[in-house]
Amino acid sequence: MPAERHIRRNVRAHDGIAAEYDAIHAELLCPAEQQRLKLKLKWAVGAIRTESVSGNRPPHALDFGCGTGNLTRLLIEMDFGVTAGDVSTKLLRRVRDKLGAPAGMLETMRLNGYDLAGVRDGTFDLVATYSVLHHVADYAKIVDELARVTRIGGVVFIDHEATGVQWSDDPGWKALQAIASASAPRTSWWRKLLQPRRYWRRLRRLINPRYQSEGDIHVWPDDHIEWDIIDSSLRKRGFEIILCEDYLFPSPYYPQEVFEEYKDRVRDIRLLVARRSSPGERSGK
Ligand SMILES: C[S@@+](CC[C@H](N)C(=O)[O-])C[C@H]1O[C@@H](n2cnc3c(N)ncnc32)[C@H](O)[C@@H]1O
Repeated sequence: MPAERHIRRNVRAHDGIAAEYDAIHAELLCPAEQQRLKLKLKWAVGAIRTESVSGNRPPHALDFGCGTGNLTRLLIEMDFGVTAGDVSTKLLRRVRDKLGAPAGMLETMRLNGYDLAGVRDGTFDLVATYSVLHHVADYAKIVDELARVTRIGGVVFIDHEATGVQWSDDPGWKALQAIASASAPRTSWWRKLLQPRRYWRRLRRLINPRYQSEGDIHVWPDDHIEWDIIDSSLRKRGFEIILCEDYLFPSPYYPQEVFEEYKDRVRDIRLLVARRSSPGERSGK
């Protein structure tokens, strides 16, 4: 699908779910995931070595693909000034309405979906993105852009992206999927009747099993983000990978004992944190 059509479809899909985004993605906002995310963000913030953090200027972060402000809120709580960027204007409006952050702490930016044109090199101390790259067909270009706008000593934080487990035949992963889909909340029949859109989506999925209601998503065996490409794109821009952690997503739809049983053998999500070194550090001076 040509990039423009792909992006338009993502914008439409996310504008369409903006009002109910938090309800649809309750799993991302559940206490276990929020606790994990906060801890990891704090770790990444502690790894920043830009001048602003050691000097007077308040640190500045980009939340790329901010949705309704999941990361933005956590970063503002950590005293970052945040630029929250998204392709969906309706989601950006939700961020402003929901967070009502103090002046100077939050600005929103409408993204074009291809690049960060108009954003100067080395603008941010922290560039964070959560559950976004698999929505972007040309994710390598986006990773390069995220790297470009990070300051020397700054950190790129990429979280909630799939590991190969998600497109493998791993029996543990399959068992977890079955458990999650059995315990996820069901829509009542009368609600379904009121929402003919749901039938239309089901029909589209019958015609094309890869059809997703949240736009174009790349999590298939032959179409997914490739970590080698991300790593080498970051290294080319002078980044050092300082954390690469695969973990089992703490879904609220797994009973606790199931999570405990599987957490060390099925690691379906990756967090990658990389820091931009100075040319001096790179040449070993
Ligand atoms: C699953 S949501 C994650 C949102 C948010 N980061 C969170 O933690 O809830 C994916 C987000 O990516 C955005 N998105 C989709 N395509 C994009 C693109 N090409 N460039 C930037 N953002 C995009 C969507 O509008 C949506 O907000």
